[in-house]
Amino acid sequence: MKELLEKIAREAEEALSRVNTKKDFERLRYDFLGRSGKLADISKQMKTLSAEEKKNIGKFFNELKNSIENSFNAHPFSKNDDSEDGKKTFIDYTLPGKAGALGSIHPIGQFMEKVISIFSSMGYEVIFGNEVETERYNFDFLNMPKDHPSRDIQDTFFIKGQEDWVLRTHTSNMQIRSMESRKPPVRILSPGRVYRHEATDASHESMFYQVEGFAIDRDIKLTDLLGTLRMFLEAIYGKVKLRFRPHYYPFVEPGLDVDMACLICGGKGCSVCKKTGWLEMIGSGMIHPTVLKNMNVDPKIWSGFAFGVGLDRLMILYYGIDDVRLSYQGDVRFLRQF
Ligand code: DAH
Repeated sequence: MKELLEKIAREAEEALSRVNTKKDFERLRYDFLGRSGKLADISKQMKTLSAEEKKNIGKFFNELKNSIENSFNAHPFSKNDDSEDGKKTFIDYTLPGKAGALGSIHPIGQFMEKVISIFSSMGYEVIFGNEVETERYNFDFLNMPKDHPSRDIQDTFFIKGQEDWVLRTHTSNMQIRSMESRKPPVRILSPGRVYRHEATDASHESMFYQVEGFAIDRDIKLTDLLGTLRMFLEAIYGKVKLRFRPHYYPFVEPGLDVDMACLICGGKGCSVCKKTGWLEMIGSGMIHPTVLKNMNVDPKIWSGFAFGVGLDRLMILYYGIDDVRLSYQGDVRFLRQF
């Protein structure tokens, strides 16, 4: 029994040396010294001993119990200080602090800021719009009526059970939305997410970013559009070689695509430009009179240009990323590089 008592005393010292919260300390005290604690158990067992043995062991028991009690009482957690959890006494203020992990702005966000600042400096107002849109704003008002074949090009996500509601397929919806509360002259830039129901590969995601821009004034000409887009692209990439090519979009007339000589191969042809030497960068044109009317703008007085840019495309070219999917995987090893 003596050995058992010594073992308990050692255990108590050992446990006390490791305890690091007040709560754990109180539990320990209870385990050793409480009414059904380890020492109380021994004391119960002692009742079965002979009077001689009791006397012998009893003395030893009392000494040991006193020493354990003293150890507990001397422990800092036993003091009734009001520091939280009694921990205060244990804090070593000289230890270095834990460095918090710093987040960073996503490359697409950084790039969007860059685009915004370029257009802000040209006097554009920046607005953000809704990603869930009605077919009217996404298509009809933009001169893409129900049976129009151009709707097929934009593989649309429809909202289940909600007739007429879609995930917007482009930011062009904001041309109409913004003009409900504005009158020309205007210069507007609207960045945001768009959605297309399509197979994803290295250059296609089903969610991506576009920036829509347009200007309406009394005497806006096609050359204003060309100059604006050149200024924009050169603000990002430096001097560029551009090619303007007719392209049909129902909401503009005439419509054009802007190609830029491939930044990777300089126009010789490589895998990035699919051996053509050119990169398709921007869709644009002069706003169609029907669309101006849908904006409540009189096409006899006002004219305007509009453009839509795939932000992801511009961004990966700017940073030299070779797969758009990388930017949406949330991999911090990738994201930390920006
Ligand atoms: N909305 C077109 C798209 O998503 C891009 C576009 C083309 C926007 C021509 C325009 C424009 O404003 O004039 O593919």
